[in-house]
Amino acid sequence: MCGIVGYTGPRDVGEVILNGLKRLEYRGYDSAGIAVKTDEGIYVQKRKGRIDDLSEEEIPEHDAGIGHTRWATHGKPSDKNAHPFLDCDEEISIVHNGIIDNFNTIKDRLIERGHEFRSETDSEVIVHLIEEEYEGDLLKAFKNVVKKIEGSYAIVVFQKDSNELLVARNQSPLVIGIGSGENFVASDVPALLYYTKEVKYLRDGDTALISRDEVKIWDENDEAITRETKTIDWDVEDAEKSGYEHYMLKEIFEQPKAIHESILGRLTSFEDVDFSKYDFDEVQFIACGTSSHAGYVGRYIFEKLAEIPSTVEVSSEYRYTSPSDSTPFTILFSQSGETLDTIAAAREAKRRGCNTLAVTNVMESSITREVDEVIYTQAGPEIGVAATKTFTTQIIILYLLAIELGLRKGVLSKDKAEEYKDELRKLPRKVERILDDKNEIKEMTESLVKAEDIFFVGRNINYPVALEGALKLKEIAYIHSAGYPAGELKHGPFALLTSETPVIAIAVKDHTFEKMLGNIGEIAARDSPVIIVGDEDKELKKLADLSYFIPNTPPIFSPVLVNVVLQLIAYYTAYRLDRDIDKPRNLAKSVTVE
Ligand code: M6R
Repeated sequence: MCGIVGYTGPRDVGEVILNGLKRLEYRGYDSAGIAVKTDEGIYVQKRKGRIDDLSEEEIPEHDAGIGHTRWATHGKPSDKNAHPFLDCDEEISIVHNGIIDNFNTIKDRLIERGHEFRSETDSEVIVHLIEEEYEGDLLKAFKNVVKKIEGSYAIVVFQKDSNELLVARNQSPLVIGIGSGENFVASDVPALLYYTKEVKYLRDGDTALISRDEVKIWDENDEAITRETKTIDWDVEDAEKSGYEHYMLKEIFEQPKAIHESILGRLTSFEDVDFSKYDFDEVQFIACGTSSHAGYVGRYIFEKLAEIPSTVEVSSEYRYTSPSDSTPFTILFSQSGETLDTIAAAREAKRRGCNTLAVTNVMESSITREVDEVIYTQAGPEIGVAATKTFTTQIIILYLLAIELGLRKGVLSKDKAEEYKDELRKLPRKVERILDDKNEIKEMTESLVKAEDIFFVGRNINYPVALEGALKLKEIAYIHSAGYPAGELKHGPFALLTSETPVIAIAVKDHTFEKMLGNIGEIAARDSPVIIVGDEDKELKKLADLSYFIPNTPPIFSPVLVNVVLQLIAYYTAYRLDRDIDKPRNLAKSVTVE
């Protein structure tokens, strides 16, 4: 939602904080700011706009400071609503990520007590509350404040006379970077990788004091504790663009490696989950956005490979459904592991008596503490707001899980399982072949840039891939697009088809192929330009205005390949339209509000 960075140490604080914030810009990018301790007091520079709009030269060199990149929730993007905030006497400064649910009541009380608010945000109450509580001991005041606020927060605070940082977390991520004679704090690891790979992840309810030479942590009961120091195995380059124009393109091209890493070691024995502990007779997948599309693909994979009936729920809806007697094994997908809707759904599933498993890409992310089991996708850091390689690896995990469950249930023979595993091994090379054709796919997008509406259609396991293709195009190219089961267009959307409405049709040679041919014929008869992505076929060629045929693969594995083509279509369409591909308007990489 927002990104925060704090630093205490001998380096140029402005450089460390701006550098860190740039790596967190995917978390929000409508305004940015920095506060630095100086000999004269606290220097603040903040404004509406991107981090690059801040003037680095103007930031005084000093030894402690905090910074923030914002995705607006309370109060529209503006200079005054940008963080950091100062108390009335301008002696304390804070940055905050999350939402303070009880801010209205607190604010009214503080105003009555004479505090002057300078923004419309919920976050500003934190700094005035600290001011109110402060009687010479900032840590004590801060801990008192943390008890009074409700909601989600990652907060970093400092005071003008000290180079110590105070931090607290609840339902918003915060990771401390351990240096030598210096320490860091940030919302996410990429902000720290330049300086350290040694980190401590804070847990919900933790508060900490970070000075140059030590880190002290207290848990939710105010007991002093140590949190394990972990070593990050991502390199700086993993979180850099490495010569690609956009993170999204880099991440699309990293998919062969990401698939390889995700299957590595899991094909011989898949030991991430103690399967014997759970009942898998019925499964439900829960997630948001792209991750929910992985769930929809999962339904088909589980039915085919493991004969397990499954349902899919969007996280934000699941909580409000009526509980039934059944307690399906619940698999939650969240690349970030921080999506509040999905975390809330995990809690609700548990409350209803379901066993839960999270599939996430981020180590120690919040969702990992809400579930019985965790499987990590090995996609590496994904910075572009549009999810690409994490979606692909979520699907890879689904194949691995379904093969394992199919074998355990006895519905999949060992030979068949080996056949499927062989197909998984071949996927990275097949994805590479598609990526080699990027220019051909780029050419196909020339006709799409003029369109105001684009339909994506598919059947069976490729219906959710149509949904994903449409989401990606909407998200980064800002073209209205909708995904449909191919058989559904005739039940309404046909009214919208004209020669100006391209339809991207996914056609693979599964048991629905003949029907798909019929559906495409009906679309072509309405004069809509038809772009086909799928298996090579003479009849398809006749119907298509443009086509791209994927490398030969069994239909059950086709979503991985088709989706890469659709990612490239979305990317190059957005590129031609000169969109802000890595930071599409109004969006953020992780959505930590409900
Ligand atoms: O981190 P999550 O997987 O939980 O995120 C869920 C959605 O917010 C996310 O997939 C979103 O739809 C993407 N921006 C799509 O590209």
